[in-house]
Amino acid sequence: MKRLAILTSGGDCSGMNAVIRAAARTAISKDVEMIGYRKGFAGLLKNDYIHLDTRSVSGVLQRGGTFLQSARSQEFRTEEGRKTALDNLLRERVEGLIVIGGDGSLNGALALDRMGFPVIGIPASIDNDIPYTDMALGVDTALNNIIYAVDCIKDTASSHDRAFIVEVMGRNSGYLASTSAIATGAEFAIVPEAELDLSEMCHQLRRRYDEGRTNALIIMAEGAGHAQEIADSIKDCAGFETRVTVLGHYQRGGAPTVFDRLLGSRFGRKSVDLLLAGTKGVMVGLSANSLTTTLLEMVVLGGQKKLTDDLLRMADILGI
Ligand code: F6P
Repeated sequence: MKRLAILTSGGDCSGMNAVIRAAARTAISKDVEMIGYRKGFAGLLKNDYIHLDTRSVSGVLQRGGTFLQSARSQEFRTEEGRKTALDNLLRERVEGLIVIGGDGSLNGALALDRMGFPVIGIPASIDNDIPYTDMALGVDTALNNIIYAVDCIKDTASSHDRAFIVEVMGRNSGYLASTSAIATGAEFAIVPEAELDLSEMCHQLRRRYDEGRTNALIIMAEGAGHAQEIADSIKDCAGFETRVTVLGHYQRGGAPTVFDRLLGSRFGRKSVDLLLAGTKGVMVGLSANSLTTTLLEMVVLGGQKKLTDDLLRMADILGI
Protein backbone atom coordinates (compact mmCIF):
# COMPACT_ATOMS: atom_id res chain seq x y z
CA MET A 1 0.00 0.00 0.00
CA LYS A 2 1.23 3.47 -0.85
CA ARG A 3 -1.63 5.70 0.25
CA LEU A 4 -4.02 5.52 3.22
CA ALA A 5 -6.73 7.84 4.50
CA ILE A 6 -8.30 8.62 7.86
CA LEU A 7 -11.44 10.43 9.02
CA THR A 8 -13.31 11.24 12.24
CA SER A 9 -17.07 10.86 12.14
CA GLY A 10 -20.14 11.39 14.37
CA GLY A 11 -19.84 13.06 17.79
CA ASP A 12 -16.27 14.18 18.49
CA CYS A 13 -14.34 13.14 21.58
CA SER A 14 -10.98 13.74 23.19
CA GLY A 15 -8.25 11.41 21.94
CA MET A 16 -9.25 11.50 18.27
CA ASN A 17 -6.23 13.68 17.48
CA ALA A 18 -3.94 11.11 19.11
CA VAL A 19 -5.25 8.46 16.69
CA ILE A 20 -4.76 10.68 13.64
CA ARG A 21 -1.25 11.63 14.74
CA ALA A 22 -0.20 8.05 15.51
CA ALA A 23 -1.69 6.68 12.29
CA ALA A 24 -0.02 9.37 10.17
CA ARG A 25 3.38 8.94 11.81
CA THR A 26 3.23 5.14 11.65
CA ALA A 27 2.36 5.33 7.94
CA ILE A 28 5.11 7.87 7.24
CA SER A 29 7.66 5.67 9.03
CA LYS A 30 6.81 2.97 6.48
CA ASP A 31 6.94 5.29 3.46
CA VAL A 32 3.18 5.30 3.11
CA GLU A 33 1.35 8.55 2.44
CA MET A 34 -1.59 9.49 4.72
CA ILE A 35 -4.41 11.87 3.88
CA GLY A 36 -7.16 13.10 6.24
CA TYR A 37 -10.71 13.79 5.08
CA ARG A 38 -12.34 16.81 6.69
CA LYS A 39 -15.70 16.50 8.47
CA GLY A 40 -16.01 12.74 8.30
CA PHE A 41 -17.91 11.01 5.52
CA ALA A 42 -19.24 14.40 4.38
CA GLY A 43 -15.66 15.39 3.46
CA LEU A 44 -15.10 12.05 1.73
CA LEU A 45 -18.16 12.72 -0.42
CA LYS A 46 -16.83 16.16 -1.37
CA ASN A 47 -13.29 14.84 -1.81
CA ASP A 48 -12.21 17.41 0.77
CA TYR A 49 -8.92 16.24 2.27
CA ILE A 50 -5.52 17.39 3.48
CA HIS A 51 -2.12 15.72 3.37
CA LEU A 52 -0.96 14.58 6.78
CA ASP A 53 2.79 14.86 7.11
CA THR A 54 4.82 14.74 10.33
CA ARG A 55 4.55 18.51 10.78
CA SER A 56 0.79 18.78 10.20
CA VAL A 57 0.09 16.35 13.06
CA SER A 58 2.44 18.02 15.54
CA GLY A 59 0.92 19.94 18.45
CA VAL A 60 -2.43 18.12 18.26
CA LEU A 61 -1.95 15.36 20.82
CA GLN A 62 -2.97 17.50 23.78
CA ARG A 63 -5.96 19.09 22.05
CA GLY A 64 -9.53 17.86 22.56
CA GLY A 65 -11.96 17.41 19.67
CA THR A 66 -10.64 16.55 16.22
CA PHE A 67 -8.59 18.90 14.07
CA LEU A 68 -9.99 17.13 10.99
CA GLN A 69 -13.45 18.06 12.30
CA SER A 70 -16.41 15.73 12.38
CA ALA A 71 -19.97 15.51 11.08
CA ARG A 72 -22.97 13.22 10.75
CA SER A 73 -23.62 12.72 7.01
CA GLN A 74 -27.13 11.87 5.80
CA GLU A 75 -25.93 11.54 2.21
CA PHE A 76 -23.48 8.79 3.09
CA ARG A 77 -26.41 6.73 4.39
CA THR A 78 -27.77 6.44 0.81
CA GLU A 79 -26.56 3.88 -1.75
CA GLU A 80 -25.69 6.68 -4.15
CA GLY A 81 -23.67 8.51 -1.50
CA ARG A 82 -21.70 5.39 -0.68
CA LYS A 83 -20.94 4.81 -4.34
CA THR A 84 -19.64 8.38 -4.65
CA ALA A 85 -17.46 7.80 -1.58
CA LEU A 86 -15.97 4.64 -3.08
CA ASP A 87 -15.37 6.38 -6.43
CA ASN A 88 -13.55 9.22 -4.65
CA LEU A 89 -11.33 6.83 -2.71
CA LEU A 90 -10.40 4.88 -5.83
CA ARG A 91 -9.84 8.01 -7.92
CA GLU A 92 -7.45 9.40 -5.29
CA ARG A 93 -5.60 6.05 -5.21
CA VAL A 94 -6.40 5.53 -1.54
CA GLU A 95 -5.86 1.88 -0.66
CA GLY A 96 -7.18 1.73 2.89
CA LEU A 97 -9.36 3.89 5.16
CA ILE A 98 -9.39 4.32 8.96
CA VAL A 99 -12.75 5.41 10.38
CA ILE A 100 -12.80 6.82 13.93
CA GLY A 101 -16.24 7.13 15.50
CA GLY A 102 -19.24 5.63 17.28
CA ASP A 103 -21.88 3.12 16.23
CA GLY A 104 -23.19 5.09 13.22
CA SER A 105 -19.65 5.67 11.92
CA LEU A 106 -18.70 2.00 12.33
CA ASN A 107 -21.86 1.15 10.42
CA GLY A 108 -20.60 3.41 7.62
CA ALA A 109 -17.22 1.68 7.76
CA LEU A 110 -18.95 -1.68 7.40
CA ALA A 111 -20.82 -0.42 4.32
CA LEU A 112 -17.51 0.38 2.59
CA ASP A 113 -16.08 -2.98 3.70
CA ARG A 114 -19.07 -4.72 2.09
CA MET A 115 -18.27 -2.83 -1.14
CA GLY A 116 -14.84 -4.45 -1.05
CA PHE A 117 -12.84 -1.46 0.22
CA PRO A 118 -10.24 -2.09 2.99
CA VAL A 119 -11.42 -0.36 6.17
CA ILE A 120 -10.41 -0.39 9.84
CA GLY A 121 -12.73 0.99 12.53
CA ILE A 122 -11.66 2.72 15.76
CA PRO A 123 -14.28 2.92 18.58
CA ALA A 124 -14.70 6.51 19.76
CA SER A 125 -17.71 7.58 21.81
CA ILE A 126 -17.98 8.98 25.30
CA ASP A 127 -21.05 6.75 25.82
CA ASN A 128 -18.83 3.61 26.01
CA ASP A 129 -21.65 1.65 24.37
CA ILE A 130 -19.65 0.06 21.51
CA PRO A 131 -19.34 -3.72 21.89
CA TYR A 132 -16.06 -5.68 21.72
CA THR A 133 -13.97 -3.08 23.50
CA ASP A 134 -13.65 -2.50 27.24
CA MET A 135 -13.20 1.22 26.63
CA ALA A 136 -13.96 3.47 23.69
CA LEU A 137 -11.86 6.54 23.06
CA GLY A 138 -12.96 9.69 24.92
CA VAL A 139 -14.75 7.95 27.80
CA ASP A 140 -11.98 8.50 30.32
CA THR A 141 -11.63 12.20 29.52
CA ALA A 142 -15.40 12.71 29.69
CA LEU A 143 -15.52 10.98 33.08
CA ASN A 144 -12.71 13.15 34.39
CA ASN A 145 -14.55 16.25 33.17
CA ILE A 146 -17.70 15.08 34.94
CA ILE A 147 -16.07 14.34 38.27
CA TYR A 148 -14.34 17.71 38.27
CA ALA A 149 -17.68 19.49 37.74
CA VAL A 150 -19.55 17.30 40.24
CA ASP A 151 -16.93 17.82 42.95
CA CYS A 152 -17.45 21.58 42.51
CA ILE A 153 -21.21 21.14 42.70
CA LYS A 154 -20.92 19.05 45.88
CA ASP A 155 -19.14 21.94 47.58
CA THR A 156 -21.99 24.33 46.91
CA ALA A 157 -24.63 21.63 47.66
CA SER A 158 -23.20 21.16 51.15
CA SER A 159 -22.95 24.92 51.77
CA HIS A 160 -26.66 25.35 51.07
CA ASP A 161 -28.28 22.10 52.25
CA ARG A 162 -29.47 21.26 48.76
CA ALA A 163 -29.99 18.23 46.61
CA PHE A 164 -28.57 18.40 43.11
CA ILE A 165 -29.47 16.48 40.01
CA VAL A 166 -26.55 16.57 37.60
CA GLU A 167 -27.50 15.56 34.07
CA VAL A 168 -24.72 13.88 32.11
CA MET A 169 -24.63 12.74 28.48
CA GLY A 170 -26.03 9.44 27.30
CA ARG A 171 -29.24 9.37 25.29
CA ASN A 172 -29.40 5.58 25.40
CA SER A 173 -26.50 4.76 27.67
CA GLY A 174 -26.12 5.05 31.43
CA TYR A 175 -22.41 4.26 31.51
CA LEU A 176 -21.27 7.82 32.26
CA ALA A 177 -24.02 8.29 34.85
CA SER A 178 -23.38 5.07 36.76
CA THR A 179 -19.58 5.23 36.74
CA SER A 180 -19.45 8.92 37.63
CA ALA A 181 -21.98 8.30 40.45
CA ILE A 182 -19.58 5.72 41.90
CA ALA A 183 -16.58 8.00 41.43
CA THR A 184 -18.20 11.05 43.04
CA GLY A 185 -20.01 9.29 45.89
CA ALA A 186 -23.45 10.23 44.56
CA GLU A 187 -26.53 8.91 46.35
CA PHE A 188 -28.29 7.78 43.16
CA ALA A 189 -27.65 7.13 39.49
CA ILE A 190 -30.61 7.34 37.12
CA VAL A 191 -30.00 5.53 33.82
CA PRO A 192 -32.06 4.72 30.72
CA GLU A 193 -31.38 0.99 31.17
CA ALA A 194 -33.26 0.71 34.48
CA GLU A 195 -36.71 2.01 35.36
CA LEU A 196 -36.66 4.66 38.07
CA ASP A 197 -38.69 3.90 41.19
CA LEU A 198 -39.33 7.55 42.06
CA SER A 199 -41.26 6.87 45.28
CA GLU A 200 -38.51 4.54 46.56
CA MET A 201 -35.87 7.16 45.74
CA CYS A 202 -37.90 9.85 47.53
CA HIS A 203 -38.37 7.52 50.51
CA GLN A 204 -34.59 6.97 50.73
CA LEU A 205 -33.87 10.69 50.41
CA ARG A 206 -36.47 11.50 53.06
CA ARG A 207 -34.86 8.96 55.43
CA ARG A 208 -31.48 10.63 54.87
CA TYR A 209 -32.99 14.05 55.42
CA ASP A 210 -34.61 12.90 58.70
CA GLU A 211 -31.26 11.47 59.78
CA GLY A 212 -29.80 14.95 59.38
CA ARG A 213 -28.03 14.56 56.04
CA THR A 214 -28.76 17.86 54.46
CA ASN A 215 -27.53 17.47 50.92
CA ALA A 216 -27.76 14.83 48.24
CA LEU A 217 -26.37 14.19 44.80
CA ILE A 218 -28.11 12.38 41.97
CA ILE A 219 -26.43 11.77 38.61
CA MET A 220 -28.83 11.29 35.76
CA ALA A 221 -28.24 10.28 32.14
CA GLU A 222 -29.87 12.67 29.66
CA GLY A 223 -31.97 9.86 28.16
CA ALA A 224 -33.39 8.72 31.49
CA GLY A 225 -36.22 11.25 31.93
CA HIS A 226 -36.83 14.90 32.73
CA ALA A 227 -34.42 16.17 35.34
CA GLN A 228 -36.55 19.17 36.36
CA GLU A 229 -39.66 17.03 36.89
CA ILE A 230 -37.69 14.66 39.13
CA ALA A 231 -36.20 17.64 40.99
CA ASP A 232 -39.70 19.00 41.66
CA SER A 233 -40.82 15.63 43.02
CA ILE A 234 -37.80 15.43 45.31
CA LYS A 235 -38.55 18.85 46.71
CA ASP A 236 -42.15 17.84 47.43
CA CYS A 237 -41.53 14.40 48.88
CA ALA A 238 -38.08 14.50 50.46
CA GLY A 239 -37.81 18.00 51.85
CA PHE A 240 -34.68 19.00 49.97
CA GLU A 241 -34.46 22.19 48.04
CA THR A 242 -33.27 20.82 44.70
CA ARG A 243 -31.35 22.26 41.77
CA VAL A 244 -30.58 20.83 38.33
CA THR A 245 -27.26 21.24 36.50
CA VAL A 246 -26.96 20.05 32.91
CA LEU A 247 -23.30 19.46 32.02
CA GLY A 248 -23.98 19.17 28.27
CA HIS A 249 -21.17 19.36 25.72
CA TYR A 250 -18.64 20.52 28.31
CA GLN A 251 -18.17 16.79 28.98
CA ARG A 252 -16.98 15.97 25.47
CA GLY A 253 -14.16 18.49 25.14
CA GLY A 254 -10.91 19.36 26.83
CA ALA A 255 -7.36 18.03 26.82
CA PRO A 256 -7.40 14.23 26.65
CA THR A 257 -6.32 12.33 29.75
CA VAL A 258 -3.16 10.20 29.71
CA PHE A 259 -5.38 7.15 29.25
CA ASP A 260 -7.02 8.57 26.10
CA ARG A 261 -3.71 9.81 24.67
CA LEU A 262 -2.19 6.37 25.08
CA LEU A 263 -5.28 4.52 23.89
CA GLY A 264 -5.58 6.79 20.83
CA SER A 265 -1.88 6.35 20.01
CA ARG A 266 -2.15 2.57 20.33
CA PHE A 267 -5.31 2.45 18.20
CA GLY A 268 -3.74 4.68 15.51
CA ARG A 269 -0.56 2.69 15.20
CA LYS A 270 -2.37 -0.65 15.20
CA SER A 271 -4.83 0.40 12.49
CA VAL A 272 -2.01 1.22 10.07
CA ASP A 273 -0.11 -1.98 10.93
CA LEU A 274 -3.27 -3.99 10.24
CA LEU A 275 -3.95 -2.38 6.87
CA LEU A 276 -0.33 -2.82 5.76
CA ALA A 277 -0.48 -6.48 6.83
CA GLY A 278 -3.56 -6.98 4.66
CA THR A 279 -6.15 -7.13 7.48
CA LYS A 280 -9.40 -5.31 6.75
CA GLY A 281 -13.02 -5.06 7.83
CA VAL A 282 -12.24 -5.10 11.55
CA MET A 283 -12.55 -2.78 14.53
CA VAL A 284 -9.60 -2.41 16.89
CA GLY A 285 -10.64 -2.76 20.53
CA LEU A 286 -9.21 -3.04 24.02
CA SER A 287 -9.60 -6.12 26.21
CA ALA A 288 -7.68 -6.63 29.47
CA ASN A 289 -5.29 -3.89 28.30
CA SER A 290 -4.41 -5.72 25.07
CA LEU A 291 -5.49 -4.62 21.61
CA THR A 292 -8.00 -6.87 19.88
CA THR A 293 -9.62 -7.03 16.44
CA THR A 294 -13.27 -7.89 15.81
CA LEU A 295 -15.04 -8.10 12.46
CA LEU A 296 -17.01 -4.89 11.83
CA GLU A 297 -19.93 -7.13 10.92
CA MET A 298 -19.97 -8.53 14.48
CA VAL A 299 -19.55 -5.11 16.05
CA VAL A 300 -22.52 -3.71 14.16
CA LEU A 301 -24.66 -6.81 14.70
CA GLY A 302 -23.67 -6.76 18.39
CA GLY A 303 -25.74 -3.58 18.90
CA GLN A 304 -25.33 -1.39 21.94
CA LYS A 305 -22.99 -2.74 24.65
CA LYS A 306 -25.05 -3.47 27.76
CA LEU A 307 -24.47 -1.81 31.09
CA THR A 308 -23.60 -4.57 33.56
CA ASP A 309 -25.97 -5.22 36.46
CA ASP A 310 -22.92 -5.29 38.68
CA LEU A 311 -22.08 -1.66 37.87
CA LEU A 312 -25.64 -0.60 38.63
CA ARG A 313 -25.72 -2.57 41.87
CA MET A 314 -22.41 -1.04 42.94
CA ALA A 315 -23.74 2.48 42.34
CA ASP A 316 -26.79 1.58 44.48
CA ILE A 317 -24.89 -0.05 47.32
CA LEU A 318 -22.23 2.66 47.63
CA GLY A 319 -24.81 5.44 47.49
CA ILE A 320 -26.57 4.34 50.70
O1 F6P B 1 -22.91 9.77 21.34
C1 F6P B 1 -22.16 10.73 22.01
C2 F6P B 1 -23.06 11.83 22.55
O2 F6P B 1 -22.26 12.77 23.22
C3 F6P B 1 -24.22 11.36 23.44
O3 F6P B 1 -23.83 11.11 24.78
C4 F6P B 1 -25.17 12.51 23.32
O4 F6P B 1 -26.47 12.10 23.63
C5 F6P B 1 -25.02 12.91 21.87
O5 F6P B 1 -23.70 12.50 21.47
C6 F6P B 1 -25.17 14.39 21.62
O6 F6P B 1 -25.09 14.60 20.26
P1 F6P B 1 -24.91 16.05 19.59
O7 F6P B 1 -23.52 16.51 19.86
O8 F6P B 1 -25.15 15.83 18.15
O9 F6P B 1 -25.91 16.93 20.24
